[in-house]
Amino acid sequence: MSSNRDGFTSTFGVLVATLGSAVGLGNIWKFPYMTGTNGGASFLVVYLLATLLVALPVMIAEIMLGRASRANAVTAFETLAPKSQKFWPVIGYMGLISAVLILAFYTGVAGWVFAYIFKSITGSIHSTDPASAKAAFGAMVSNPLQALFWQWVVLAWAGAIIMLGVSKGIEAAAKKLMPILFLLLVLLCVRSLTLPGAMEGVKFLFAPDFSKITASVMLTAVGLAFFKLSIGMGTMLTYGSYFRNEQNIPLTATRVMLADLSVSLLAGLAIFPAVFSFGFEPAAGPSLVFMTIPAVFASMPFGQFFMALFFILAAIAATGAILSILEVPVAMLSERFQFSRKQATLMSISVIGLFGVPATLSMSLTAGWTVFGLNPFDLFDYISSNILMPIGGILICLFVGWVYGLPQLQKQLSNQGQLNNGWIIKAVFMLVRYITPALILIIMLKGLGLI
Ligand code: PHE
Repeated sequence: MSSNRDGFTSTFGVLVATLGSAVGLGNIWKFPYMTGTNGGASFLVVYLLATLLVALPVMIAEIMLGRASRANAVTAFETLAPKSQKFWPVIGYMGLISAVLILAFYTGVAGWVFAYIFKSITGSIHSTDPASAKAAFGAMVSNPLQALFWQWVVLAWAGAIIMLGVSKGIEAAAKKLMPILFLLLVLLCVRSLTLPGAMEGVKFLFAPDFSKITASVMLTAVGLAFFKLSIGMGTMLTYGSYFRNEQNIPLTATRVMLADLSVSLLAGLAIFPAVFSFGFEPAAGPSLVFMTIPAVFASMPFGQFFMALFFILAAIAATGAILSILEVPVAMLSERFQFSRKQATLMSISVIGLFGVPATLSMSLTAGWTVFGLNPFDLFDYISSNILMPIGGILICLFVGWVYGLPQLQKQLSNQGQLNNGWIIKAVFMLVRYITPALILIIMLKGLGLI
């Protein structure tokens, strides 16, 4: 089975493809909106700590498990765990549920991005006025057929790409377009930071008010770190299974983490100065980016052109992330149940499309379908990011720290002794064995109000 698996073809390709999974709507949409609703700079501080102490070690461990087993998330644990321990593949099955829940709302948001490409070309969202930006966004998301139409466009598009296979489809698109997105974000930042009153936004993002940190804010930060680095649900494990033997895993993970973080910070710096300058509401929620970004573009020369370009690139970044999530069920169905990749893709998209309906209609018809006060859109996000992925993270840590063990970890992270990663490996081991799982557990229990 392992010999004919598709794989990434170069060290740079691995880095870019992994980045292609990590960078997406999580950076451009979710990070700014959650920073806005959770208090700004103090949230950023907690988020940074969560990234370093929780997400990075999980990411290294997860990629390592993928490469060591060269398999999907269920098979990986069957292969690596001792025969008597039948429990571990549960991590893979939980990942499958997360993948469906995330894609149910993520493809809906990607649909908004696709729609905004066209709206920026027709000029209908070209305005710096908060009231009209709000009306334009509201008109789109509250129209059930329009919202579903765009979600299905996204699903069909992603399905078509994934049928082409790993190295060709994902690597090629991601490689070419990431740098352009980055440059465009820099441009946006420059404009946003030179708007009148921009400093207010910078303060919001960088001057922390620690009284705003609560247990549930901490859980949200941990969940966001998992979501943004695509960990705790088998995506990074599946990608790790395509990594080359010569790849330096801790180094690649660290680079991906830093690049992902810089994209998020740029997005924050592009958005918050404008929020305060134009008089938007920082805690607006999921609509924040869709209202503010057009306003920044509307206030610069050639804004309409740049805005269309921005949404095209955001759509591509979202596609990279979607493909990587889809890869979890597709690899599992095709490797375990002998479906063709085509069949596996079609089955996955159909199930996601089904769950996508209530999620996407949460701004219209299903807004009142709440569980614990959360509509389907927010509920799917909450269950995946704040419950399933952190539990996945705990289990991955415990597996590597207590079952897989230090000698194996040393072999894997040093590429059979070829890399001089000595202290890094020990640090990763101490983190995944004790610190990281304990931190996640305490934050989860507190954040969920269980202790
Ligand atoms: N990390 C992606 C983003 O930021 C989303 C994602 C989550 C991808 C989980 C894979 C797995 O947009």
